[in-house]
Amino acid sequence: MSEGWDELSVEVAREEAEALGARLLELGSSGLMEAPGDGRAPRQLWDEGPEPPPPATLLLTAWFRPDQRARVAAGLPTELTLRWRALTDTDWLAASQASFAPIALSERLVVAPPWDAPPGALVIEPGQGFGTGDHPTTRLAWQLVEELLEGAAPPARLLDVGCGSGILALAAARHGVAAAGIDVEAEAVAEAHLNAERNGLVAEFTTTPLAEVPGRFPLVVANLHAELILRLLPDLIARVGERLVLAGILGAERAARVDEACRAAGLVLERELRAEEWRARRWRRA
Ligand SMILES: C[S@@+](CC[C@H](N)C(=O)[O-])C[C@H]1O[C@@H](n2cnc3c(N)ncnc32)[C@H](O)[C@@H]1O
Repeated sequence: MSEGWDELSVEVAREEAEALGARLLELGSSGLMEAPGDGRAPRQLWDEGPEPPPPATLLLTAWFRPDQRARVAAGLPTELTLRWRALTDTDWLAASQASFAPIALSERLVVAPPWDAPPGALVIEPGQGFGTGDHPTTRLAWQLVEELLEGAAPPARLLDVGCGSGILALAAARHGVAAAGIDVEAEAVAEAHLNAERNGLVAEFTTTPLAEVPGRFPLVVANLHAELILRLLPDLIARVGERLVLAGILGAERAARVDEACRAAGLVLERELRAEEWRARRWRRA
């Protein structure tokens, strides 16, 4: 394998970004970053006022080994302008670290990588486990959880189904909640343990299948995708003592299907949030 990395930047119309991102990964990119083409900062959940129009273009950045460059160029539509840059080792470290800058998960919680953590931040090492805080679904799920934790009767225990890096369970543990997280990926669970240690927090992370988790929890949170939520819903609801936060639901049609299933199971909708096309809901037992 050739040494070093080449960075490719391409600006495309927003509607074409998803397909191009998929193509870059197919062509062997080791990672992908997406930013508004006009350089503006992403809108946050608490930004007030009408939603600004989405950027017309997106800037995609991807990384390849130098010997992949010719094949990548040949595999992309010829009308795209490809901007290549060979990275030195220092550039590479800076580029990979810059893609994990501190990020506000809510008005009160900043999540940051260990090398750039301001005081008071929840430290999450970017790794295999999903959940560095940069995804809208994590932010929506956390906001719905945080509101309860800061309310008059915060839940004492929480189950995080699909814990990934442990971000939601650990953020809840900082509020004194006894948090448990499960994930089908053993690597994610191992990382969640390390993240707990990094923050001096205690939380229980295991690969126990949802159907085998004993007891009920006043709060269950599941940031999964809609199809998986629908499949797991009976087992999720069986573990709900009071409330269920669901996130990771993309688009109105999927949201309607999940809503219908929750209502049919006797849950009552308490709160809903949306960011871009992502939907999140908080349900409670009737
Ligand atoms: C979208 S990530 C959410 C990570 C983190 N909770 C967050 O909010 O950022 C979904 C996680 O669910 C896990 N997962 C997928 N199917 C699962 C299942 N049946 N039971 C438990 N975890 C599952 C995946 O491995 C992944 O880590």
